[in-house]
Amino acid sequence: MGLLIKNAVIVNNDKIWDKPHDILCEDGKIVKIASTIDVKGHEVVDARAKKVLPGLIDIHVHFRQPGREDKETIETGPKSAVKGGFTTVMCMPNTTPVIDNPMTVEYVIREAKRVGLCNVLPIGALTKAQKDEELTDMAELKSAGCIAFSDDGKSVLNSRLFRLAMEYAKMLDVLILEHCQDPLLTSGGVMNEGAVSTRCGLKGDPAIAESVTIARDIEIANYLNARVHICHVSIKRGCELIKMAKAQGIKVTAEACPHHFSLTDEACATFDTSTKVNPPLRSQEDVDAIKQAIKDGTIDCIVTDHAPHTKEDKEVGFDGAPFGLIGLETSLGLTIKELVKPGIIDLPTMVEKMSSAPARIVGLKTKGSIKEGLDADITIIDENKEWTVTKEGFASKSKNSPFIGWKLVGEVAYTIYEGKIVYKA
Ligand code: DOR
Ligand code: ZN
Ligand code: ZN
Repeated sequence: MGLLIKNAVIVNNDKIWDKPHDILCEDGKIVKIASTIDVKGHEVVDARAKKVLPGLIDIHVHFRQPGREDKETIETGPKSAVKGGFTTVMCMPNTTPVIDNPMTVEYVIREAKRVGLCNVLPIGALTKAQKDEELTDMAELKSAGCIAFSDDGKSVLNSRLFRLAMEYAKMLDVLILEHCQDPLLTSGGVMNEGAVSTRCGLKGDPAIAESVTIARDIEIANYLNARVHICHVSIKRGCELIKMAKAQGIKVTAEACPHHFSLTDEACATFDTSTKVNPPLRSQEDVDAIKQAIKDGTIDCIVTDHAPHTKEDKEVGFDGAPFGLIGLETSLGLTIKELVKPGIIDLPTMVEKMSSAPARIVGLKTKGSIKEGLDADITIIDENKEWTVTKEGFASKSKNSPFIGWKLVGEVAYTIYEGKIVYKA
């Protein structure tokens, strides 16, 4: 049978519909949207007083399977995703072993289908074992199901390899996502280089480690007339470079993470290792620039870079802890609190950044909008509901969040994937 959503105030990336509508979902698709629909035998969801959005899409998460199932799995990761309102996620290949061969790609896809909570798209590695020495067989990985490629966790430092990868990606029409951070400039830094790192006596990672790599990637994209997607932009200079590139017609897209617009490097002064992330939390000036870049379109989309780590791994000194924080369940609440409520962006723009643009960037033609004929991936939210982040509340297997104790605005009421309720508050 199907699903009938009653009294839906639909928010697409262009507008909030002024009158409530009913949405009929059958066989995983949105088959009809009308002011009232009367059918028998369908499961009914009443969306009165809520907002009905296309399912959120996060094109940058880390599930740790295969290899570190103690941190997250392809079962717990999607549980966390749907609790956060996401119906599609793309997972990075820095697992053990690395997702650099068709067998591992097929394994991830098979496991995600078995779990069946949301759409999980594995990102293939750009270089074998992410060693920056030899390219993977991107054509073979594409046949296995990869529509995007990355060595996330680090940059492809070898510019000749990166150029070749961009040429192949252009031929195959797949997306390259690049983690921009020159390790020679980063040189063991564990937080943003600046006054706070000096005060804390922690080794700083300078903004230029990020900006030089962004600049290189833009240059290669321009030279080849190829596409590149810049991951987790965290600095003002990065926004400036991307804005200039876009103005010149260079095919660059970019993402930013909620933690980079919600926290500054002052948060690291607590020595709470859940604030240790790559690229690091930056200055207030950078935070302001990221918000502005989201508003003006320089930053195309919001992603979480959901990076689960165990308590044991994080409960060490700041220097020794792994980089990363979990983000799937706080992304919507932080975006509404930090961007929508202060009037920096409106709800349709939030839908653009969290669903429509990510769908477009990776080429998901049947997602990213609530429209007859498209996939019935739908997120119903109460955008005014306040809630407090707790450790116990996380569906993720890991709890490494710097937002525990924060009051957020905007709660997911229902997540609907392929016409089925996969999460209910
Ligand atoms: O903080 C991060 N964690 N940044 C990355 O680039 C990798 C990620 C991880 O895999 O833990
Ligand atoms: Zn990264
Ligand atoms: Zn990442």
